[in-house]
Amino acid sequence: MEFPFDINQLFPERISVLDHTLEAGPGFVLASHCCTVYVCRPDLQACCATVIDELGKASARAQQLPAPVTSASKMKSQRHQLYLLKDGESNGGRGVVTGFLKIGYKKLFLLDLQSVHVEAEPLCVLDFYIVESLQRHGYGLEVFDFMLQDKNLDPVLMAYDRPSPKLLSFLANHYHLTENVPQVLFVHQHSFE
Ligand code: ACO
Repeated sequence: MEFPFDINQLFPERISVLDHTLEAGPGFVLASHCCTVYVCRPDLQACCATVIDELGKASARAQQLPAPVTSASKMKSQRHQLYLLKDGESNGGRGVVTGFLKIGYKKLFLLDLQSVHVEAEPLCVLDFYIVESLQRHGYGLEVFDFMLQDKNLDPVLMAYDRPSPKLLSFLANHYHLTENVPQVLFVHQHSFE
């Protein structure tokens, strides 16, 4: 996914971890004799918001959702983490965005294997998208593995919010997660907010 600004300036690392601050790195450095001060440049934050909004819309289209689950304004108001994957060499060295994975803790009333309701607050995969032309090239696995290492977590301990057929196939293929326990969808748990 190309943007009319330099993705490499915005996201210095191949995988950036974003939170409610929408900051991927130091942004702009002010150096003086005795110290270095990092300040957030508003124009970089606006570009970052554009990238998140476009990714959220593309993911919603890919899953045929009525509205995006991911947007910059939702990121600002929720304690979620977004792992953004880029290819820094494409687009004449300005970089392109390859996709993203969004996770967050969610209070859920889950059905266990005996169909008993248990209250839990697991780390959930909330949204996951790789640009169509780049799917099935291992990029999803790269970003998912990065998140698992970052969180030091086993994928079997995570919850998956309304998994698409592609995600179910991805989890079965890469992590041998084949036995899922479908959950009752309560209206107040619906996460379009
Ligand atoms: N049909 C079936 N399975 C697929 C497809 C597809 N079109 N694309 C990927 N997969 C699964 C398969 O298991 C595939 O392995 P295979 O090619 O050997 O059959 C495996 O994923 C490929 O692994 P990666 O290349 O690492 O995954 P990819 O880069 O394609 O990313 C992702 C996976 C994010 C699910 C991607 O396919 C995608 O963006 N899909 C559309 C959006 C989507 O469905 N996102 C999940 C939403 S649900 C949620 O986020 C809780």
